[in-house]
Amino acid sequence: MNLIKKLLVAPATVLALWAVTAQATTDDAIAERLKPVGEVCVMGEECKGVATVAASAAGGGNRTGDEIIAKHCGACHSSGLLGAPKIGDAAAWKERADHQGGLDGILAKAITGLNAMPPKGTCADCSDDELLGAIKKMSGL
Ligand code: HEC
Repeated sequence: MNLIKKLLVAPATVLALWAVTAQATTDDAIAERLKPVGEVCVMGEECKGVATVAASAAGGGNRTGDEIIAKHCGACHSSGLLGAPKIGDAAAWKERADHQGGLDGILAKAITGLNAMPPKGTCADCSDDELLGAIKKMSGL
């Protein structure tokens, strides 16, 4: 190997080693940042953080009214789409509640559906309590 080649190979090796090390550090850093979200949990073992996600995915009845509204009800009830009573329009909600015999009455309608209002407001896995929470929040009742 002539001198020129040697001079070129040495820095290239150093550079390659540096790149590998830098990559390793970056991967570790990324793994660390992803940890709270991407942590793997084994079924049957305790795994905090994921429990709530799993519960809500299964309709565990733990979601707040706000969460249900944001995901399901707001699509129509924010703007009053298709004649839906608007979020915060207490008078409109009260009139409906009075008509159906109270909160339980409009909850029953929300479960079965009413005209353009789909059954359970498209939240098929919502528990009655979750729906009621969302209705209370939207109506202020
Ligand atoms: C696709 C649009 C749409 C979505 C999504 C929707 N609603 Fe409605 N909702 C309506 C409409 C339209 C009405 C009015 C129906 C009527 O009176 O003809 C209504 C009415 C209601 C009423 C009053 C029922 C009554 O007896 O007067 C309740 C309670 C209600 N919605 C709850 C919910 C909840 C809770 C969600 C979310 C889980 C939801 N809605 C999602 C369209 C929707």
